[in-house]
Parts: sequence; structure tokens; C-alpha cells
Amino acid sequence: VGAVRERVDAGDTGYAHPGGLPEAYAAFSDERYGWAPDPGRIAVVHDVMRAVEAMLLLFTEPGDGVVVNSPVYPPFFSTIRHAGRRVVEAPVQPTGSDGRYELDLEAVERAFAGDGATAYLLCNPHNPTGRVPDAAELGAVAEVADRHGATVISDEVHAPLTASGCRHVPFGSLDAPAARRSVSLVSASKGWNIPGLKCALVVAGPDAWPTVAALPDEVTEPSILGVAANEAAFRDGLSWLDDTLAYLDGNRRALADALAARVPAIRWHPPEATYLAWLDCRALGLGDDPSAAFLERGRVALVAGPDFGAPGAGFARLNFATSRSIVLEAVDRMAAVATGQA
Ligand SMILES: Cc1ncc(COP(=O)(O)O)c(C=O)c1O
Repeated sequence: VGAVRERVDAGDTGYAHPGGLPEAYAAFSDERYGWAPDPGRIAVVHDVMRAVEAMLLLFTEPGDGVVVNSPVYPPFFSTIRHAGRRVVEAPVQPTGSDGRYELDLEAVERAFAGDGATAYLLCNPHNPTGRVPDAAELGAVAEVADRHGATVISDEVHAPLTASGCRHVPFGSLDAPAARRSVSLVSASKGWNIPGLKCALVVAGPDAWPTVAALPDEVTEPSILGVAANEAAFRDGLSWLDDTLAYLDGNRRALADALAARVPAIRWHPPEATYLAWLDCRALGLGDDPSAAFLERGRVALVAGPDFGAPGAGFARLNFATSRSIVLEAVDRMAAVATGQA
């Protein structure tokens, strides 16, 4: 807030310059993920989804297939289609030993071999399941991408929100040709809740950088306030982020306890990153879109599972980045719907 206020007070609200943002991000990434990207290969852009579109236009041809791991953040579908490319779904599956979601590498392989995809829009960490793919899974992704000559576009906007005990692996940090050809999209917009200020970064591997560097500034220019806020967040916002992560961790546990006690028929795996809970409500008999019943009968708003692709039927996504009492109240309202008392 201080960094934004300073700009406004100075009347300095013109066009943006990257300033020290690439260096601030590289230092943050080094501190948090143990990998410092070269600031000379970081472009500062408008926001993550605009950057996804720009990367699709740069690295794929009209009509090309783009692999996504559904259920996935709904704008992935619309942005790929808007760019004139085809969505190729390789669903993630709850195959982990404890029911957590994992990348289905055979489905990814099929997507490239059978459906002729040329790019992989990876959601790392994954929205809505909150999964943080590990180095072995990402290494396998890189191996498949290399075999098919595909470009990996890794959306890492949720990475700062990785829970303690889990480790985010930047795709670009892998030792693989696919990583050197990859682009990763990052921003302070989720971790510090500033998406409206409009700023994100494209972290390009050495082989992707010449293409990214040729992107005209006008195409994805960030806002000067977004640049100031991102730089302040990545440079000075670490203890704020840690306090937020600790609070979210408490919410995650409170949500787990409340769901187990009040609506045990809902199945889910607590996320390893993000503040999102991907709830399997199929046992409640509320149809393909349980969020509609929760809203109409319980007056509690979740996001509709089917918006995340076909595997989202019968699911709903709950955002627990709020005060704990509201999380508990949300579960009370869902329980009332589930038990027919609402
Ligand atoms: C996976 C993912 N990517 C991108 C975004 C949006 O980022 P931006 O506002 O920078 O486009 C979100 C927002 O929820 C998201 O969850």
C-alpha cells in the first residue's frame, strides 16, 4: 500500500518502467524456491492471463492443440480458444496414496502423441486442486515435452502461497531442454491480493528469451502501480506473506475439522498451495453443480465445479482466504443444505 501511495502522492502515474522488479523477483525466487532466474530474461507484463495469450501467440500456430490439466482455472479454456488454439484436456487424477491429485502422464503423452498438441499450459501450483507437483513429476513433464518438441508455459501465480512443508519447484529451474525453452508466469497478484493493480512477470528460459524479448511493449504493458506494488511485495513483503500463510494454514485445518464434523460426505484433499478447497460433493446428490444448491438454499457462494471442465461435475470450489469465522459459517450453511435443513 505504501509503495502505491507514494506513486499516487508524487503524481507519478504515467507509463511503467520495470525498475528493480526483475531483480527483486529473482531474489525472492532464490530465497523461497532456491532458484534465482536471470533478471535479464524477465519481461514485466500486464497480468498473467494476458501473458498466457501473448505466449500462445508467440510459441504456437493457429489451430494448434494446447494441453491443460483439467479440472483447471476456467480462463485457461477461454484464453486458449480466444487465441485461436484448441484445448486438449489431460485430466489430473486423485491417484496419490492419500487421495491427492497427480498429473496423469499417460494422458499427457496421449495429448501430445494423439492430439498433436504443441504447447502445455501447466498450472503449477494447480488451481483448483491446490496440488504442488514435485520435481519428479515435473521432470517427467519436461521429458514428454522434449520428446514432442512442445513449449511449456508454466503459470506459477499461486507459488508464493505454497504451504509450509511443501516445496514449489519452478519449471524453469529443471535441468532439461524443455525448461530452457519454457516460459513461467509469476506475479504478486495472488499472494498479496493485488490482481487489480495489473502486473506480472514472464520468466523465460534462455532458449525462449529471444522470442519473448521481441514482444512489443505496447502489447502487454503493466500498470505503474502494479510494478511498484509487485516490487514492494517481492522485496519487502515476505514477513506479511508468512503471517498470511500461517493464518491460511489455520483456516485449512479449521475447514478440515469442520467439514469432517458437519459434512463428512464431502471428500477433498487439503491443498498444498493456494487458499482453495476443491470439494467432491457427489455423495450429497446435489447434481452436477452443487454450488447452485449451496447458493440458493444456503446463501453461501462457492465456484461451480463444471466451470473447471468436465471432471468438475459434482464438485465445487471454496475460497478460504477469509476470516476463520466466515469459513466456519460457510461450512454451517453447506451442512444445512446437505442435511435438507436449509
Ligand atoms: C491459475 C491462475 N492463473 C492466473 C490467474 C489470474 O492472474 P491475473 O489476474 O494476473 O491474470 C489466476 C487467478 O485466480 C489463477 O488462479
